[in-house]
Amino acid sequence: MNKTELLYEGKAKKIWKTEDENLLISEFKDDLTAFNGQKKSSEAGKGALNNKISTELFKLLNSKGIPTHFVEMLDDNHMLHKACEVIKIEVIVRNIATGSLSKNLGIEDGKVLPFTLVEFDYKNDDLGDPKLNDQHALILGLVEFQDELDKLRRVARQINDILKPYFFEKGLKLVDFKLEFGKDKDGNIILIDEISPDNCRFWDVESGESLDKDRFRQGKGGLKVAYENVLERILKN
Ligand code: C5P
Repeated sequence: MNKTELLYEGKAKKIWKTEDENLLISEFKDDLTAFNGQKKSSEAGKGALNNKISTELFKLLNSKGIPTHFVEMLDDNHMLHKACEVIKIEVIVRNIATGSLSKNLGIEDGKVLPFTLVEFDYKNDDLGDPKLNDQHALILGLVEFQDELDKLRRVARQINDILKPYFFEKGLKLVDFKLEFGKDKDGNIILIDEISPDNCRFWDVESGESLDKDRFRQGKGGLKVAYENVLERILKN
């Protein structure tokens, strides 16, 4: 399968059309952005690490019955996947308070939440990805029916129920993460985008060290080593 025409360029990926209208290729970039694009940098090798990590996690989720857009990893920076109509909702799943949850609501950083929190953000850079409730999502027409919002929450929790113990066994706390969903050609809601340290927070169980994009957000350095560490743990059975 070959890249034909550039369909879209995002902050971390380019999306290419292929000869098959039902299949697209994501090209994982080395670019890093944070705070809605206000902080920018680049880290050689980051795109390939995210492609490999996402590939392993999509395969894991597929094997557990979660439908995803993943078809195959083509090479270091390219993933072949199904073409979907993107649902413009970022589904945020949180097990431990940190980041914007602590900032916005004053919940102590590092507090284990009494239950897994699932939130919706409007995927809209111009508006800075504001929080959404169900009524907002329906009024904006981001989905047609309440059932679809219920499904996003249900699948997000199922994914958390798979990934949280999986990473804990590998010595990582899955603190929070962001998921995106789309509709495939048959109208099924499936997981799309990527699952990587760019959109998940991982804390080492022993040291509490962040092994994710917070290293960049907080100017700590060592981002590539951290992402390599996550991939090594995933590949070790
Ligand atoms: O910044 P915040 O605390 O809301 O982030 C929650 C989780 O969602 C983090 O894992 C972060 O990496 C992810 N996220 C993302 N893309 C966004 C917003 C959040 O990947 N636009």
